[in-house]
Amino acid sequence: MCGIVGYIGREDAAPILLKGLKKLEYRGYDSAGIAILGAGGLTVRKSRGGIKNLEEKIEAELANGTLAASIGIGHTRWATHGEPSDINAHPHTDLSGNIAVVHNGIIENYARLKAWLQKHGVVFRSETDTEAVAHLIDLHYNGDLLQAVMESLIRLEGSYALAVVSRDDPDRIIAVRKESPLVIGKGDGENFIASDVPALLEYTRDVYYLLDREIAVLYRDKVEFYDGDGRRIEKNIAHVDWDAGAAEKDGYEHFMIKEINEQPKALTSALRARIQADAGQDAQGGVPVKAVNLEEIGFDSSWAQANRVVITACGTAWHAAVIGKYAFERYSRISADVDIASEYRYRNPICNPQDIFIIISQSGETADTLAAMRMAKESGSRVIAITNVVGSTLAREADLVMYTWAGPEIAVASTKAFTTQLMCLYLIALQFGVLRGVLSGDELAKSIKALEEVSGQAEKILKDKETIQRFAARHFTKSKVFFMGRLFDYAVSLESALKLKEISYTHSEAFAAGELKHGPIALVDESTLVVAICTQTVLFEKMDSNIKEVKARGASTLVITYDDVNYFDQSADEIFRIPRLPDGLSPMLSIIPCQLYAYYCAVQRGLDPDKPRNLAKSVTVE
Ligand code: AGP
Repeated sequence: MCGIVGYIGREDAAPILLKGLKKLEYRGYDSAGIAILGAGGLTVRKSRGGIKNLEEKIEAELANGTLAASIGIGHTRWATHGEPSDINAHPHTDLSGNIAVVHNGIIENYARLKAWLQKHGVVFRSETDTEAVAHLIDLHYNGDLLQAVMESLIRLEGSYALAVVSRDDPDRIIAVRKESPLVIGKGDGENFIASDVPALLEYTRDVYYLLDREIAVLYRDKVEFYDGDGRRIEKNIAHVDWDAGAAEKDGYEHFMIKEINEQPKALTSALRARIQADAGQDAQGGVPVKAVNLEEIGFDSSWAQANRVVITACGTAWHAAVIGKYAFERYSRISADVDIASEYRYRNPICNPQDIFIIISQSGETADTLAAMRMAKESGSRVIAITNVVGSTLAREADLVMYTWAGPEIAVASTKAFTTQLMCLYLIALQFGVLRGVLSGDELAKSIKALEEVSGQAEKILKDKETIQRFAARHFTKSKVFFMGRLFDYAVSLESALKLKEISYTHSEAFAAGELKHGPIALVDESTLVVAICTQTVLFEKMDSNIKEVKARGASTLVITYDDVNYFDQSADEIFRIPRLPDGLSPMLSIIPCQLYAYYCAVQRGLDPDKPRNLAKSVTVE
């Protein structure tokens, strides 16, 4: 997520802006910039990379007073439209340099806006959606910045938090939000804007939380507010009593639990603009049918002519890849192989230029994954990347990129990245199934309906997180934890075991439940906790037998199954129920209680779930 700051007062603005941006670094970013209104008019300085790069760039000007000013805006960019670069960094200005804008969000109609603006003679310099906003405001500007902003907002679709300054209207900052956060800090003879509270706490704890479509006009000694229809409104001041650390996590204790709770929103983002609502009529000609629409990533039918899909990744992304294999076999009836990237790259694999590779990586920088991707390309295969980082190495080198849009994932343990990777895999698998003529209209409709409901169902599970918290309080001392399941549930077991081991340092492992009698059962005794993931309806009877086998040997058992299933009531010690959805799509939900269990076990053990020992967020070396 991008970070926005703004300052108007009597102090030197640039140092305040830079300090505020540093407080927002946790949000993840790839470039930074400021715009200040001083004696020299409107000055913009911005740079790809960290805030340190920006500081080095403007060091001399800060020292010699060139950038002295008492009003300004700043931005840290988490790239969406356009790769990380100096020119794509914010703030963006109109052609005359009168208006400067910083933006957090996505202007969904920016392509149409850009075309319209270009028809009106506007020349774009960057690849960003935000630049279109600066030009639009300039087109509407007739000496009143507030009026120009209000008129421009009518043309914007999508999400935005904006801060706007004008050289010709130098005694105020205009701020507005829709679906992206923005907070106004009230000072004494000075006022502040920030995407999040941590950037304000050094100066004030008195804040106004802007609601969607509300506009704030900041002067040095007052702040005026307007609603979405341009009417003046009054807002109450809130007093922030969080400490800075807590504020960065929106009040959550750790980034991991924050990101687990962000999954409903992340799943919605991963699905957004990838389902076409009116793709035709149903057989009876009455009801509009929906379709998967991957045109935005440049996907065309040629991709579905492949004979085989090869999916490769590392760690959690590899677990998503295993689910991807099962999804392609179920929904596309195409041969699908899955490989751990560090194995694939050294196995001298059989490569076929007709194969399609799907490479999954949250960071887009994992060394083994990149090596496997480059091998695939060298063999003449085409590569689809599923990644969370715009402009990452994987994104730049793949033939197609499907972003997970999960927002920055700060915790080392991957959670929302995993579930959004699954969303992307399902969308591709369904589209392959349609293009290969193997997916019926009913199956597609049922699957799309389920994908659209999964965000709300995830929300429901998260409302019940205390059940898992209590279960973890009873079992966190267990030194041996097994996760077992079949088909999709086996893959979820793999991911669940990794979560538990990497943040609570519990020895946990996963196995296909059918393998129980081929070895693992020898380890089962009274000290063992076995979590059975049971969402594959056709195999409930098999799973029930496995649960009874481990129980007979003294294991404690937790079953994760649907809320309308009583099949395991006799055999399980405890049951955690999730909303029903098609068995093939269940991993997006069944993983959530397992993520929560791992998190609460780590907390119970007094560990920091965000920074597990020996682990890095991105393994950029072998
Ligand atoms: C998962 O919780 C771990 N942090 C780790 O296994 C991670 O999934 C793996 O290193 C792959 O990272 P990537 O998705 O950025 O490539």
